[in-house]
Amino acid sequence: MIRVVATTPFDGQKPGTSGLRKKVQVFQQPHYVENFVQSLFDSLKEFEGETLVVGGDGRYFNREAIQTVIKIAAAAGFGRVLVGQGGILSTPAASAVIRKHEAFGGIILSASHNPGGEHGDFGIKYNIGNGGPAPEPVTDAIFARSQAITQYRISDAPDVDLDTQGITRVEDMVVDVIDPVEDYAELMGTLFDFDAIRDLFGAGFTMRFDAMSAVTGPYARAILEETLGAAPGTVVHGQPLPDFGGHHPDPNLVHAKDLYDLLMSDHAPDLGAASDGDGDRNMIIGRGRYLTPSDSLAIIAANAHLAPGYAAGIAGIARSMPTSGAADRVAEKLGVTCYETPTGWKFFGNLLDAGLATVCGEESFGTGSNHVREKDGLWAVLMWLNILAVRRQSVAAIVADHWATYGRNYYTRHDYEEVDAAAAEGLVADLRARLDTLPGSVLGGLTVEKADDFAYHDPVDGSVTTKQGLRVFFTDGSRIVYRLSGTGTAGATLRVYIERFEPDAARHDLDTQAALADLIAIARSLPDIEGRTGRSEPSVIT
Ligand code: G6P
Ligand code: ZN
Repeated sequence: MIRVVATTPFDGQKPGTSGLRKKVQVFQQPHYVENFVQSLFDSLKEFEGETLVVGGDGRYFNREAIQTVIKIAAAAGFGRVLVGQGGILSTPAASAVIRKHEAFGGIILSASHNPGGEHGDFGIKYNIGNGGPAPEPVTDAIFARSQAITQYRISDAPDVDLDTQGITRVEDMVVDVIDPVEDYAELMGTLFDFDAIRDLFGAGFTMRFDAMSAVTGPYARAILEETLGAAPGTVVHGQPLPDFGGHHPDPNLVHAKDLYDLLMSDHAPDLGAASDGDGDRNMIIGRGRYLTPSDSLAIIAANAHLAPGYAAGIAGIARSMPTSGAADRVAEKLGVTCYETPTGWKFFGNLLDAGLATVCGEESFGTGSNHVREKDGLWAVLMWLNILAVRRQSVAAIVADHWATYGRNYYTRHDYEEVDAAAAEGLVADLRARLDTLPGSVLGGLTVEKADDFAYHDPVDGSVTTKQGLRVFFTDGSRIVYRLSGTGTAGATLRVYIERFEPDAARHDLDTQAALADLIAIARSLPDIEGRTGRSEPSVIT
Protein backbone atom coordinates (compact mmCIF):
# COMPACT_ATOMS: atom_id res chain seq x y z
CA MET A 1 0.00 0.00 0.00
CA ILE A 2 1.15 3.51 -0.69
CA ARG A 3 1.09 5.90 2.23
CA VAL A 4 0.98 9.67 1.96
CA VAL A 5 3.06 11.21 4.74
CA ALA A 6 2.88 14.88 5.70
CA THR A 7 6.28 16.51 6.09
CA THR A 8 7.98 19.88 6.38
CA PRO A 9 11.10 21.12 4.55
CA PHE A 10 14.62 20.70 5.88
CA ASP A 11 17.16 23.47 5.43
CA GLY A 12 20.11 22.90 3.20
CA GLN A 13 19.01 20.05 0.95
CA LYS A 14 21.09 21.66 -1.75
CA PRO A 15 23.19 19.29 -3.87
CA GLY A 16 26.83 20.43 -4.15
CA THR A 17 29.62 19.54 -6.61
CA SER A 18 28.38 15.97 -6.61
CA GLY A 19 25.13 15.47 -4.84
CA LEU A 20 23.78 16.10 -1.38
CA ARG A 21 26.52 15.31 1.12
CA LYS A 22 26.09 15.54 4.90
CA LYS A 23 26.99 13.74 8.08
CA VAL A 24 25.26 10.37 8.53
CA GLN A 25 23.30 11.76 11.49
CA VAL A 26 21.75 14.40 9.27
CA PHE A 27 20.48 11.75 6.87
CA GLN A 28 19.22 9.65 9.78
CA GLN A 29 16.69 12.29 10.84
CA PRO A 30 13.13 11.08 10.28
CA HIS A 31 11.83 12.13 6.82
CA TYR A 32 15.21 13.52 5.70
CA VAL A 33 15.95 10.96 2.97
CA GLU A 34 12.26 10.72 2.09
CA ASN A 35 11.98 14.48 1.60
CA PHE A 36 15.02 14.66 -0.62
CA VAL A 37 14.12 11.69 -2.79
CA GLN A 38 10.51 12.88 -3.16
CA SER A 39 11.77 16.37 -4.06
CA LEU A 40 14.01 14.77 -6.66
CA PHE A 41 11.16 12.79 -8.23
CA ASP A 42 8.83 15.79 -8.03
CA SER A 43 11.27 17.81 -10.09
CA LEU A 44 11.57 15.16 -12.82
CA LYS A 45 9.03 14.55 -15.54
CA GLU A 46 7.66 11.60 -17.46
CA PHE A 47 9.37 8.71 -15.75
CA GLU A 48 6.18 6.66 -15.38
CA GLY A 49 7.04 3.02 -16.10
CA GLU A 50 10.72 3.86 -16.67
CA THR A 51 13.83 2.24 -15.16
CA LEU A 52 15.80 3.67 -12.25
CA VAL A 53 19.27 2.42 -11.31
CA VAL A 54 20.15 2.37 -7.60
CA GLY A 55 23.34 1.46 -5.79
CA GLY A 56 26.01 2.83 -3.54
CA ASP A 57 29.53 2.54 -2.28
CA GLY A 58 28.60 0.30 0.66
CA ARG A 59 29.16 2.89 3.34
CA TYR A 60 27.22 3.05 6.61
CA PHE A 61 23.49 3.76 5.98
CA ASN A 62 23.76 2.58 2.35
CA ARG A 63 21.26 -0.24 2.73
CA GLU A 64 18.72 1.78 4.72
CA ALA A 65 18.77 4.61 2.19
CA ILE A 66 18.39 2.17 -0.71
CA GLN A 67 15.26 0.64 0.85
CA THR A 68 13.76 4.11 1.19
CA VAL A 69 14.63 5.03 -2.39
CA ILE A 70 13.03 1.82 -3.69
CA LYS A 71 9.81 2.40 -1.76
CA ILE A 72 9.46 6.01 -2.87
CA ALA A 73 10.31 5.08 -6.46
CA ALA A 74 7.55 2.45 -6.38
CA ALA A 75 5.06 5.03 -5.08
CA ALA A 76 6.18 7.55 -7.70
CA GLY A 77 5.44 5.17 -10.56
CA PHE A 78 8.80 3.92 -11.81
CA GLY A 79 8.40 0.67 -13.71
CA ARG A 80 11.62 -1.01 -12.71
CA VAL A 81 14.55 -0.54 -10.40
CA LEU A 82 17.93 -2.12 -11.10
CA VAL A 83 19.84 -2.37 -7.85
CA GLY A 84 23.34 -3.75 -7.36
CA GLN A 85 23.56 -6.87 -5.20
CA GLY A 86 24.39 -5.97 -1.61
CA GLY A 87 23.42 -2.40 -2.47
CA ILE A 88 26.74 -2.07 -4.28
CA LEU A 89 27.39 -0.09 -7.45
CA SER A 90 30.47 1.99 -8.00
CA THR A 91 29.78 5.41 -9.48
CA PRO A 92 31.23 4.52 -12.91
CA ALA A 93 29.46 1.16 -12.86
CA ALA A 94 26.16 2.92 -12.11
CA SER A 95 26.82 5.18 -15.08
CA ALA A 96 27.53 2.14 -17.26
CA VAL A 97 24.36 0.38 -16.10
CA ILE A 98 22.22 3.48 -16.73
CA ARG A 99 23.55 3.72 -20.27
CA LYS A 100 23.44 0.04 -21.15
CA HIS A 101 19.88 -0.43 -19.91
CA GLU A 102 18.72 2.96 -21.19
CA ALA A 103 17.46 3.83 -17.75
CA PHE A 104 15.70 7.11 -17.01
CA GLY A 105 18.37 7.89 -14.43
CA GLY A 106 20.04 6.60 -11.34
CA ILE A 107 20.47 7.33 -7.67
CA ILE A 108 23.94 6.73 -6.25
CA LEU A 109 24.38 6.57 -2.49
CA SER A 110 27.84 7.83 -1.76
CA ALA A 111 29.89 10.60 -0.25
CA SER A 112 32.74 9.61 -2.55
CA HIS A 113 36.11 9.92 -0.84
CA ASN A 114 34.77 11.31 2.44
CA PRO A 115 35.12 9.08 5.51
CA GLY A 116 32.29 6.63 6.20
CA GLY A 117 30.94 4.86 9.27
CA GLU A 118 28.36 5.97 11.77
CA HIS A 119 30.09 9.29 12.39
CA GLY A 120 31.24 9.81 8.82
CA ASP A 121 29.53 11.26 5.79
CA PHE A 122 26.74 10.04 3.57
CA GLY A 123 25.46 11.31 0.26
CA ILE A 124 22.81 10.98 -2.40
CA LYS A 125 23.39 11.98 -5.98
CA TYR A 126 21.21 11.80 -9.01
CA ASN A 127 22.45 10.90 -12.50
CA ILE A 128 20.46 11.53 -15.63
CA GLY A 129 19.79 9.24 -18.59
CA ASN A 130 23.16 9.84 -20.26
CA GLY A 131 24.71 8.31 -17.13
CA GLY A 132 26.19 11.59 -15.91
CA PRO A 133 25.63 13.77 -12.85
CA ALA A 134 22.50 15.91 -12.94
CA PRO A 135 23.24 19.35 -14.38
CA GLU A 136 22.67 22.45 -12.31
CA PRO A 137 19.10 23.25 -13.51
CA VAL A 138 18.08 19.79 -12.27
CA THR A 139 19.80 20.12 -8.90
CA ASP A 140 18.46 23.67 -8.51
CA ALA A 141 14.95 22.35 -9.13
CA ILE A 142 15.42 19.60 -6.55
CA PHE A 143 16.58 22.13 -4.00
CA ALA A 144 13.70 24.49 -4.76
CA ARG A 145 11.23 21.64 -4.38
CA SER A 146 12.84 20.52 -1.10
CA GLN A 147 12.11 23.96 0.32
CA ALA A 148 8.39 23.69 -0.44
CA ILE A 149 7.64 20.02 0.11
CA THR A 150 4.56 19.19 2.20
CA GLN A 151 4.21 15.45 1.71
CA TYR A 152 5.85 12.35 0.31
CA ARG A 153 4.43 9.08 -0.96
CA ILE A 154 6.00 5.80 0.07
CA SER A 155 5.18 2.11 -0.23
CA ASP A 156 4.80 0.25 3.05
CA ALA A 157 6.04 -3.01 1.45
CA PRO A 158 8.67 -4.98 3.39
CA ASP A 159 12.34 -4.42 2.66
CA VAL A 160 13.76 -5.93 -0.53
CA ASP A 161 16.35 -8.70 -0.09
CA LEU A 162 19.37 -6.92 -1.55
CA ASP A 163 21.66 -9.93 -1.22
CA THR A 164 19.96 -12.26 -3.65
CA GLN A 165 20.10 -11.60 -7.39
CA GLY A 166 16.81 -11.77 -9.22
CA ILE A 167 13.44 -10.16 -9.59
CA THR A 168 10.86 -9.18 -6.97
CA ARG A 169 8.15 -6.55 -6.86
CA VAL A 170 7.35 -3.55 -4.72
CA GLU A 171 3.79 -2.45 -5.53
CA ASP A 172 3.66 -2.52 -9.36
CA MET A 173 7.37 -1.87 -9.73
CA VAL A 174 9.85 -4.62 -10.68
CA VAL A 175 12.97 -4.73 -8.52
CA ASP A 176 15.87 -6.49 -10.21
CA VAL A 177 18.88 -7.20 -7.99
CA ILE A 178 21.78 -7.40 -10.45
CA ASP A 179 25.43 -8.44 -10.38
CA PRO A 180 27.14 -5.08 -9.73
CA VAL A 181 30.27 -6.01 -11.69
CA GLU A 182 29.05 -7.76 -14.83
CA ASP A 183 27.94 -4.88 -17.09
CA TYR A 184 30.95 -2.81 -16.12
CA ALA A 185 33.48 -5.59 -16.69
CA GLU A 186 31.94 -6.33 -20.06
CA LEU A 187 32.32 -2.68 -21.08
CA MET A 188 35.99 -2.64 -20.01
CA GLY A 189 36.57 -5.72 -22.18
CA THR A 190 35.40 -3.77 -25.23
CA LEU A 191 37.78 -0.85 -24.58
CA PHE A 192 41.04 -2.51 -23.62
CA ASP A 193 43.26 -5.23 -25.01
CA PHE A 194 42.69 -7.82 -22.30
CA ASP A 195 44.88 -10.38 -24.09
CA ALA A 196 47.85 -8.02 -24.11
CA ILE A 197 47.33 -7.20 -20.43
CA ARG A 198 47.07 -10.92 -19.64
CA ASP A 199 50.39 -11.44 -21.41
CA LEU A 200 51.90 -8.60 -19.40
CA PHE A 201 50.92 -10.23 -16.11
CA GLY A 202 51.96 -13.60 -17.52
CA ALA A 203 55.42 -12.15 -18.16
CA GLY A 204 55.78 -11.38 -14.45
CA PHE A 205 54.46 -7.82 -14.24
CA THR A 206 53.53 -7.02 -10.63
CA MET A 207 51.05 -4.59 -9.22
CA ARG A 208 49.20 -3.57 -6.09
CA PHE A 209 45.69 -2.17 -6.29
CA ASP A 210 44.45 -0.66 -3.04
CA ALA A 211 40.65 -0.63 -2.97
CA MET A 212 40.78 1.21 0.38
CA SER A 213 38.05 -1.08 1.83
CA ALA A 214 35.62 0.70 -0.44
CA VAL A 215 33.55 -0.17 -3.47
CA THR A 216 36.19 -1.10 -6.07
CA GLY A 217 37.32 -4.29 -4.32
CA PRO A 218 34.84 -6.60 -6.06
CA TYR A 219 35.43 -4.92 -9.43
CA ALA A 220 39.22 -5.03 -9.16
CA ARG A 221 39.30 -8.65 -8.00
CA ALA A 222 37.01 -9.79 -10.80
CA ILE A 223 38.82 -7.88 -13.54
CA LEU A 224 42.47 -7.75 -12.45
CA GLU A 225 42.84 -11.06 -10.66
CA GLU A 226 40.16 -13.33 -12.11
CA THR A 227 40.05 -12.07 -15.71
CA LEU A 228 43.50 -10.63 -16.38
CA GLY A 229 45.57 -13.03 -14.33
CA ALA A 230 47.14 -10.63 -11.87
CA ALA A 231 48.53 -12.60 -8.92
CA PRO A 232 46.07 -13.31 -6.09
CA GLY A 233 46.64 -10.65 -3.46
CA THR A 234 47.24 -7.93 -6.06
CA VAL A 235 44.06 -6.29 -4.77
CA VAL A 236 44.40 -5.23 -1.14
CA HIS A 237 41.65 -3.90 1.16
CA GLY A 238 39.30 -5.52 -1.32
CA GLN A 239 36.29 -5.98 0.93
CA PRO A 240 33.87 -3.00 1.01
CA LEU A 241 33.32 -2.07 4.68
CA PRO A 242 30.67 0.34 6.05
CA ASP A 243 33.39 2.42 7.71
CA PHE A 244 36.10 1.74 5.09
CA GLY A 245 38.10 0.13 7.88
CA GLY A 246 38.28 3.48 9.62
CA HIS A 247 40.33 4.93 6.76
CA HIS A 248 39.74 7.94 4.59
CA PRO A 249 39.03 6.36 1.19
CA ASP A 250 40.77 9.03 -0.83
CA PRO A 251 43.59 7.93 -3.12
CA ASN A 252 46.17 10.65 -2.58
CA LEU A 253 49.60 11.02 -1.06
CA VAL A 254 48.17 11.49 2.41
CA HIS A 255 45.52 8.80 2.61
CA ALA A 256 47.24 6.20 0.42
CA LYS A 257 50.65 6.81 1.93
CA ASP A 258 51.34 3.10 2.50
CA LEU A 259 50.93 2.47 -1.19
CA TYR A 260 53.17 5.40 -2.03
CA ASP A 261 55.84 4.21 0.41
CA LEU A 262 55.70 0.71 -1.05
CA LEU A 263 56.17 2.02 -4.59
CA MET A 264 59.15 4.10 -3.49
CA SER A 265 60.77 1.15 -1.64
CA ASP A 266 63.18 -1.41 -3.06
CA HIS A 267 60.54 -4.16 -3.07
CA ALA A 268 58.12 -2.04 -5.11
CA PRO A 269 55.86 -3.75 -7.64
CA ASP A 270 55.83 -2.37 -11.20
CA LEU A 271 52.61 -0.46 -10.68
CA GLY A 272 50.58 0.83 -7.75
CA ALA A 273 47.05 2.15 -7.99
CA ALA A 274 44.21 3.07 -5.67
CA SER A 275 40.61 4.16 -5.99
CA ASP A 276 38.26 6.07 -3.70
CA GLY A 277 35.06 5.30 -1.79
CA ASP A 278 32.78 5.12 -4.81
CA GLY A 279 35.36 4.06 -7.39
CA ASP A 280 35.54 7.11 -9.59
CA ARG A 281 38.92 8.48 -8.50
CA ASN A 282 42.30 6.96 -9.18
CA MET A 283 45.90 7.35 -8.21
CA ILE A 284 48.64 5.83 -10.34
CA ILE A 285 52.18 5.30 -9.09
CA GLY A 286 54.98 3.62 -10.99
CA ARG A 287 57.93 1.98 -9.28
CA GLY A 288 59.83 4.96 -7.92
CA ARG A 289 57.68 7.43 -9.85
CA TYR A 290 54.61 9.23 -8.54
CA LEU A 291 52.36 10.60 -11.21
CA THR A 292 50.18 13.67 -10.79
CA PRO A 293 46.62 13.24 -12.09
CA SER A 294 47.34 16.09 -14.52
CA ASP A 295 50.32 14.22 -15.98
CA SER A 296 48.37 10.97 -16.03
CA LEU A 297 45.66 12.65 -18.11
CA ALA A 298 48.22 14.02 -20.56
CA ILE A 299 50.00 10.69 -20.94
CA ILE A 300 46.73 8.80 -21.33
CA ALA A 301 45.64 11.25 -24.01
CA ALA A 302 48.94 10.86 -25.84
CA ASN A 303 48.78 7.05 -25.72
CA ALA A 304 45.07 6.29 -25.87
CA HIS A 305 45.31 5.05 -29.44
CA LEU A 306 47.17 2.01 -28.09
CA ALA A 307 43.90 0.74 -26.59
CA PRO A 308 41.40 -0.85 -29.02
CA GLY A 309 38.50 1.34 -27.87
CA TYR A 310 40.45 4.46 -28.82
CA ALA A 311 42.42 3.14 -31.79
CA ALA A 312 40.77 5.65 -34.12
CA GLY A 313 42.21 8.53 -32.09
CA ILE A 314 40.58 10.98 -29.74
CA ALA A 315 38.24 13.76 -30.78
CA GLY A 316 39.35 16.15 -28.07
CA ILE A 317 40.47 16.46 -24.47
CA ALA A 318 38.72 18.20 -21.61
CA ARG A 319 40.21 19.17 -18.29
CA SER A 320 38.96 21.17 -15.34
CA MET A 321 40.45 24.65 -15.13
CA PRO A 322 42.66 23.97 -12.09
CA THR A 323 44.14 20.87 -13.77
CA SER A 324 47.60 21.55 -15.21
CA GLY A 325 48.15 22.55 -18.82
CA ALA A 326 50.05 19.32 -19.62
CA ALA A 327 47.07 17.95 -21.55
CA ASP A 328 46.87 21.13 -23.63
CA ARG A 329 50.30 20.37 -25.08
CA VAL A 330 49.20 16.90 -26.09
CA ALA A 331 46.03 18.28 -27.66
CA GLU A 332 48.06 20.77 -29.63
CA LYS A 333 50.31 18.06 -31.01
CA LEU A 334 47.34 15.84 -31.86
CA GLY A 335 45.61 18.77 -33.53
CA VAL A 336 42.54 18.53 -31.30
CA THR A 337 40.95 20.99 -28.88
CA CYS A 338 41.56 20.92 -25.14
CA TYR A 339 38.46 22.26 -23.38
CA GLU A 340 38.81 23.98 -20.02
CA THR A 341 35.80 23.52 -17.73
CA PRO A 342 34.91 24.40 -14.13
CA THR A 343 35.66 21.85 -11.42
CA GLY A 344 33.06 19.09 -11.41
CA TRP A 345 32.75 16.12 -13.72
CA LYS A 346 29.26 17.19 -14.78
CA PHE A 347 30.75 19.93 -16.96
CA PHE A 348 32.25 17.28 -19.23
CA GLY A 349 28.85 15.76 -19.99
CA ASN A 350 27.86 18.07 -22.83
CA LEU A 351 31.31 17.84 -24.46
CA LEU A 352 31.19 14.04 -24.33
CA ASP A 353 27.59 13.83 -25.53
CA ALA A 354 28.39 16.15 -28.44
CA GLY A 355 31.47 14.12 -29.38
CA LEU A 356 33.79 17.08 -28.83
CA ALA A 357 35.96 15.36 -26.23
CA THR A 358 36.95 11.72 -25.78
CA VAL A 359 39.14 11.78 -22.68
CA CYS A 360 38.69 14.02 -19.66
CA GLY A 361 40.49 14.60 -16.42
CA GLU A 362 40.73 16.61 -13.26
CA GLU A 363 43.59 17.32 -10.92
CA SER A 364 41.45 15.84 -8.14
CA PHE A 365 42.42 12.30 -9.16
CA GLY A 366 39.69 11.94 -11.75
CA THR A 367 40.21 10.54 -15.24
CA GLY A 368 37.79 9.05 -17.70
CA SER A 369 36.41 8.98 -21.20
CA ASN A 370 33.26 8.90 -23.25
CA HIS A 371 32.60 5.26 -22.26
CA VAL A 372 30.49 6.48 -19.32
CA ARG A 373 29.58 9.91 -17.97
CA GLU A 374 31.56 9.76 -14.73
CA LYS A 375 35.22 9.65 -13.99
CA ASP A 376 36.35 6.08 -13.65
CA GLY A 377 39.13 4.87 -11.37
CA LEU A 378 39.51 1.33 -12.69
CA TRP A 379 39.26 2.55 -16.26
CA ALA A 380 42.35 4.70 -15.67
CA VAL A 381 44.19 1.72 -14.19
CA LEU A 382 43.23 -0.49 -17.13
CA MET A 383 44.25 2.24 -19.58
CA TRP A 384 47.67 2.39 -17.93
CA LEU A 385 47.93 -1.40 -17.98
CA ASN A 386 47.04 -1.38 -21.67
CA ILE A 387 49.69 1.27 -22.39
CA LEU A 388 52.29 -0.64 -20.36
CA ALA A 389 51.34 -3.91 -22.07
CA VAL A 390 51.93 -2.38 -25.50
CA ARG A 391 54.98 -0.23 -24.76
CA ARG A 392 56.69 -2.67 -22.41
CA GLN A 393 58.50 0.18 -20.66
CA SER A 394 58.36 1.13 -17.00
CA VAL A 395 55.99 3.87 -15.85
CA ALA A 396 59.04 6.00 -15.03
CA ALA A 397 60.43 5.60 -18.54
CA ILE A 398 57.09 6.48 -20.14
CA VAL A 399 56.79 9.58 -17.94
CA ALA A 400 60.36 10.71 -18.66
CA ASP A 401 59.79 10.20 -22.36
CA HIS A 402 56.57 12.22 -22.18
CA TRP A 403 58.23 15.16 -20.43
CA ALA A 404 61.15 15.08 -22.86
CA THR A 405 58.66 15.36 -25.72
CA TYR A 406 56.20 17.87 -24.30
CA GLY A 407 58.01 19.55 -21.39
CA ARG A 408 56.99 19.18 -17.76
CA ASN A 409 54.28 21.10 -15.95
CA TYR A 410 55.42 21.19 -12.34
CA TYR A 411 52.23 21.18 -10.35
CA THR A 412 51.04 21.09 -6.77
CA ARG A 413 47.83 21.70 -4.85
CA HIS A 414 47.80 23.06 -1.33
CA ASP A 415 44.61 22.58 0.68
CA TYR A 416 43.61 24.45 3.80
CA GLU A 417 40.86 22.24 5.16
CA GLU A 418 38.10 23.04 7.62
CA VAL A 419 38.95 26.70 7.89
CA ASP A 420 36.36 29.14 9.14
CA ALA A 421 33.85 29.54 6.29
CA ALA A 422 33.45 33.28 6.69
CA ALA A 423 37.22 33.80 6.74
CA ALA A 424 37.66 31.73 3.58
CA GLU A 425 34.83 33.49 1.78
CA GLY A 426 36.23 36.86 2.83
CA LEU A 427 39.65 35.91 1.51
CA VAL A 428 38.24 34.99 -1.87
CA ALA A 429 35.95 38.02 -2.05
CA ASP A 430 38.76 40.44 -1.25
CA LEU A 431 41.14 38.90 -3.74
CA ARG A 432 38.39 38.92 -6.36
CA ALA A 433 37.92 42.64 -5.77
CA ARG A 434 41.65 43.23 -6.27
CA LEU A 435 42.12 41.16 -9.43
CA ASP A 436 41.92 44.17 -11.74
CA THR A 437 44.78 45.87 -9.94
CA LEU A 438 47.20 42.94 -10.25
CA PRO A 439 48.34 42.92 -13.91
CA GLY A 440 51.77 44.58 -14.22
CA SER A 441 52.57 44.26 -10.53
CA VAL A 442 55.65 42.34 -9.43
CA LEU A 443 55.14 39.71 -6.74
CA GLY A 444 58.17 37.88 -5.33
CA GLY A 445 60.14 38.74 -8.45
CA LEU A 446 57.47 37.55 -10.88
CA THR A 447 55.34 39.90 -12.97
CA VAL A 448 51.60 39.35 -13.15
CA GLU A 449 50.44 39.12 -16.73
CA LYS A 450 46.72 38.87 -16.11
CA ALA A 451 44.28 37.89 -13.41
CA ASP A 452 40.64 36.85 -13.68
CA ASP A 453 37.74 35.01 -12.16
CA PHE A 454 37.18 31.94 -14.32
CA ALA A 455 33.87 31.79 -16.15
CA TYR A 456 32.87 28.92 -18.42
CA HIS A 457 30.89 29.33 -21.61
CA ASP A 458 29.59 25.89 -22.49
CA PRO A 459 30.12 25.53 -26.24
CA VAL A 460 27.26 23.04 -26.53
CA ASP A 461 24.33 24.62 -24.72
CA GLY A 462 25.63 28.17 -24.44
CA SER A 463 25.21 28.31 -20.67
CA VAL A 464 27.58 30.44 -18.64
CA THR A 465 28.96 29.45 -15.23
CA THR A 466 30.73 32.23 -13.34
CA LYS A 467 32.97 32.56 -10.28
CA GLN A 468 34.77 29.25 -10.77
CA GLY A 469 38.17 30.18 -9.40
CA LEU A 470 40.52 33.14 -9.18
CA ARG A 471 43.46 32.87 -11.56
CA VAL A 472 46.71 34.78 -11.46
CA PHE A 473 48.95 34.32 -14.50
CA PHE A 474 52.58 35.41 -14.59
CA THR A 475 54.62 36.49 -17.58
CA ASP A 476 56.84 33.37 -17.34
CA GLY A 477 53.78 31.16 -17.92
CA SER A 478 53.32 30.21 -14.27
CA ARG A 479 49.88 30.22 -12.71
CA ILE A 480 48.26 30.31 -9.28
CA VAL A 481 44.56 29.45 -8.86
CA TYR A 482 42.41 29.91 -5.76
CA ARG A 483 39.02 28.36 -5.18
CA LEU A 484 36.84 27.05 -2.40
CA SER A 485 35.99 23.37 -2.44
CA GLY A 486 32.41 22.46 -3.26
CA THR A 487 32.60 19.07 -1.59
CA GLY A 488 33.51 19.67 2.04
CA THR A 489 31.07 19.04 4.88
CA ALA A 490 32.73 21.05 7.66
CA GLY A 491 33.77 24.71 7.41
CA ALA A 492 35.42 25.65 4.14
CA THR A 493 38.38 24.23 2.27
CA LEU A 494 40.58 26.68 0.41
CA ARG A 495 42.42 25.09 -2.49
CA VAL A 496 45.46 26.73 -4.01
CA TYR A 497 46.77 25.29 -7.28
CA ILE A 498 50.29 26.17 -8.34
CA GLU A 499 51.89 25.42 -11.68
CA ARG A 500 55.00 26.19 -13.72
CA PHE A 501 55.96 24.89 -17.15
CA GLU A 502 59.53 23.65 -17.57
CA PRO A 503 60.63 22.91 -21.14
CA ASP A 504 64.22 22.01 -20.25
CA ALA A 505 64.65 18.21 -19.92
CA ALA A 506 67.73 18.77 -17.75
CA ARG A 507 65.38 20.28 -15.15
CA HIS A 508 62.69 17.60 -15.18
CA ASP A 509 63.83 15.75 -12.08
CA LEU A 510 63.53 18.47 -9.46
CA ASP A 511 61.50 18.07 -6.31
CA THR A 512 58.09 19.60 -7.06
CA GLN A 513 57.81 21.71 -3.90
CA ALA A 514 61.34 23.03 -4.44
CA ALA A 515 60.71 23.77 -8.11
CA LEU A 516 57.65 25.78 -7.13
CA ALA A 517 58.95 27.34 -3.90
CA ASP A 518 58.87 30.94 -5.13
CA LEU A 519 55.32 30.58 -6.45
CA ILE A 520 54.21 28.86 -3.26
CA ALA A 521 55.46 31.82 -1.23
CA ILE A 522 53.62 34.26 -3.51
CA ALA A 523 50.48 32.15 -3.32
CA ARG A 524 50.48 32.41 0.48
CA SER A 525 51.25 36.09 0.79
CA LEU A 526 49.05 37.47 -1.98
CA PRO A 527 45.75 36.90 -0.15
CA ASP A 528 47.46 36.69 3.29
CA ILE A 529 46.33 33.13 3.93
CA GLU A 530 47.90 32.96 7.38
CA GLY A 531 46.53 36.29 8.54
CA ARG A 532 43.01 35.44 7.44
CA THR A 533 42.76 31.76 8.31
CA GLY A 534 45.33 31.38 11.06
CA ARG A 535 47.01 28.62 9.05
CA SER A 536 50.69 28.91 8.32
CA GLU A 537 50.79 25.62 6.41
CA PRO A 538 48.30 23.74 4.25
CA SER A 539 46.75 20.62 5.78
CA VAL A 540 47.17 18.55 2.62
CA ILE A 541 49.67 18.86 -0.21
CA THR A 542 49.17 16.83 -3.34
C1 G6P B 1 34.40 15.43 -6.75
C2 G6P B 1 33.90 15.80 -8.09
C3 G6P B 1 35.03 16.28 -8.96
C4 G6P B 1 35.76 17.41 -8.30
C5 G6P B 1 36.19 16.99 -6.92
C6 G6P B 1 36.83 18.11 -6.13
O1 G6P B 1 35.24 14.33 -6.83
O2 G6P B 1 33.27 14.71 -8.70
O3 G6P B 1 34.53 16.66 -10.21
O4 G6P B 1 36.89 17.75 -9.04
O5 G6P B 1 35.11 16.51 -6.18
O6 G6P B 1 35.90 19.12 -5.95
P1 G6P B 1 36.17 20.29 -4.93
O7 G6P B 1 35.05 21.24 -5.16
O8 G6P B 1 36.21 19.69 -3.55
O9 G6P B 1 37.53 20.85 -5.31
ZN1 ZN C 1 34.44 9.50 -5.76
